[in-house]
Amino acid sequence: MKRIAVLSSGGDAPGMNAFIRAVIRTTIGRGLEAFGVMRGYQGLIDGDIEPLDKRSVSNIIQRGGTILHTARSEEFKTPKGQRQALRNLNSKGIDGLVVLGGDGSLTGALTLHKAGFKVIGGPGTIDNDLEGSDMAIGVDTALNTVLDAIDKIKETASSHQRAFLVEVMGRNCGYLALITSIIGGAELVCIPEIPFELADVLEVVENAYIKGKTHCIIVVAEGAKHPTRAIKKYLDERIEETGFETRETILGHIQRGGSPSAYDRLLATRLGAAAVDQLLAGESGKMVGIVGNQITATPIEIILANRKKLNMELYNLAQLLEK
Ligand code: ADP
Ligand code: F6P
Repeated sequence: MKRIAVLSSGGDAPGMNAFIRAVIRTTIGRGLEAFGVMRGYQGLIDGDIEPLDKRSVSNIIQRGGTILHTARSEEFKTPKGQRQALRNLNSKGIDGLVVLGGDGSLTGALTLHKAGFKVIGGPGTIDNDLEGSDMAIGVDTALNTVLDAIDKIKETASSHQRAFLVEVMGRNCGYLALITSIIGGAELVCIPEIPFELADVLEVVENAYIKGKTHCIIVVAEGAKHPTRAIKKYLDERIEETGFETRETILGHIQRGGSPSAYDRLLATRLGAAAVDQLLAGESGKMVGIVGNQITATPIEIILANRKKLNMELYNLAQLLEK
């Protein structure tokens, strides 16, 4: 193997730059040539692939976003797009590719692997919905961003004696919501994995009021059974019962930005280096991850076939502490 390229794809996550830096510097450090692909799979199709030296990734470890940019490419989902991507990789003499992204990006990586191209994935998503890694790159930073928001919201909620719905990202996975509800001291968490009724939320708010609490914080994952708006409307129409007025805050894309935490920088650096070493060991079709603080490599097919399960121990803990 002589030339390794790296790309970031799908939703960005804090720590992507630290991962890219580690891939580039490990590749060069092992005596190979390093390349960066702009705009994920779309850049592969467009032939937007450039050599990078060690200095080109200076001063980025602390920056959110991705210097290689990211994209969602419909064209890459087609056999024609994949053929063009492979043609461009081959014409640049690249023999190994590192893909950083979420489950969609790993699905794309698998198509290249099945076509015979050497590819290794890295978990880059704030959702933490990937099997094969206890934590994905960006999750820790996003948790801290949400926590900071909840702490601030709690202050204004208490001052005004209000209930707050705080919506966090996670279409299919309630990880961010669950963890921040525990460490942010919320009264309730609503996540996609656990169905609930609007009346259950009302009961929690009513109880918080009756107990004399000064606020009631409810963390709602984006993909929860009932959307934040619907919960707010339901509570607003029953203010006689809730006692509290309700406000909503949708945190949105601030969760995807920001300087990566110490944890994310170290995780991204370890995984970026491990991805290169997997390629050098002749591996392909695997995703590097961290399991029990050990760096691992798991076949992408296994990761995609197994949806990460809700940690029931943590969910039960949240329920216990909410009371
Ligand atoms: P994420 O990686 O964050 O889950 P997406 O689901 O948007 O983000 O996927 C990122 C990109 O991965 C897509 O835009 C597409 O280019 C590629 N991809 C997703 N699914 C497939 C697929 N079934 N086949 C080939 N490529 C795919
Ligand atoms: O997968 C990461 C994520 O931030 C999800 O939590 C969220 O549902 C989605 O991406 C938002 O995607 P977009 O960038 O297209 O708004």
